[in-house]
Amino acid sequence: MDKAQEMQRFSLESRRYIGCKTKLVDWIFSLIEEQTHDVHFFCDIFAGTGVVAHRALQTYERVVVNDFLHSNNVMYRAFFAPGEWSEERVQTIISEFNDINPAKIGENYFSKNFGGKYFYHDTAKIVGYIRGRLQTLQKDLTDKEYSVLMASLIYSIDRHANTMGHFDAYYRKAPAAHQFQMRMIDAESYEGVEIHQEDANQLARNVNVDLTYLDPPYNSRQYSRFYHVYENLVQWKKPQLYGTALKPKEENMSDYCRTAALKAFTDLVSHINSRYLVVSYNNTYHSKSTSSENKIKLEQLEEVLNKCGKTQVFNHEFKAFNSGKTEFDDHREYLFITEVDNEKRNQSFPDVLRG
Ligand SMILES: C[S@@+](CC[C@H](N)C(=O)[O-])C[C@H]1O[C@@H](n2cnc3c(N)ncnc32)[C@H](O)[C@@H]1O
Repeated sequence: MDKAQEMQRFSLESRRYIGCKTKLVDWIFSLIEEQTHDVHFFCDIFAGTGVVAHRALQTYERVVVNDFLHSNNVMYRAFFAPGEWSEERVQTIISEFNDINPAKIGENYFSKNFGGKYFYHDTAKIVGYIRGRLQTLQKDLTDKEYSVLMASLIYSIDRHANTMGHFDAYYRKAPAAHQFQMRMIDAESYEGVEIHQEDANQLARNVNVDLTYLDPPYNSRQYSRFYHVYENLVQWKKPQLYGTALKPKEENMSDYCRTAALKAFTDLVSHINSRYLVVSYNNTYHSKSTSSENKIKLEQLEEVLNKCGKTQVFNHEFKAFNSGKTEFDDHREYLFITEVDNEKRNQSFPDVLRG
């Protein structure tokens, strides 16, 4: 790889992730700026890729960023966390990784399971080998260096995955041959960031901020199942895998993807200490199966938020990403902005939800 290519870093926004708000961040923040005041502390409690938190970090003093997935947490540590690290050292390690000859290394957990399926076999071999090396190197690296290397590995393989962008299935056609090259992410450092990996409802009990942005999943499709390959790679516990999609045993299953979703949402908003609640809502995931219908209806969401305080709803026409085949005509993205009235909220919710 020449110097110019080496310098070309992956931006946070360049990752494929279902429901990511990359194209809506400007719209979301223009409404937040218009409709709220005196906001200094911000919380992105279902942060996903972190694109919303990223924008907030450029605007607000303190930003709490949370998601219960291991692979998302490592991204926040890599892209946002302050802390010691040597860019030169990380680049040297990446350059060494880029010299690996797949013919000279053995098969490993990653290549045996995912080679020829989710990834081109040689790439899977290199990725498994690199992951093993990172395990060994970890003790001599700072957390920032380790996280930047892990995030760079994931960003570098993301576009090569033989999938439509998540790991619910891989294409039947074999992955295309290519020469794998790892590139660094565009890591930044923010003193005001606070990174968590918790269940949002637990974290909500300890948050005290001016504004909380909520973008939970709304249908039955679990993110931990969609991104199981990255969860597996980051944790590197080498679990047994099941089914054609090669998923491990379930972990981090979200109540927001179940019939309990409305209860979970109500529980969260009734506990969080936040002057404003800003909630994204959409029906992006279209499927023939009724299990993919939204677990919380628009009207239900509005009703719960109205019980918390004065609520306004905004909508934005948006062409949904669905693997480039069809574009939905009627897709709309909504944004609710609630100015929390604590007295009203405390009276609205039954005691059973509090505690
Ligand atoms: C719609 S995505 C958020 C997308 C994000 N706004 C972005 O722009 O990338 C929902 C996120 O919530 C996370 N999640 C789901 N249930 C959760 C829970 N109970 N606690 C914490 N995170 C959860 C998922 O892992 C997923 O990343």
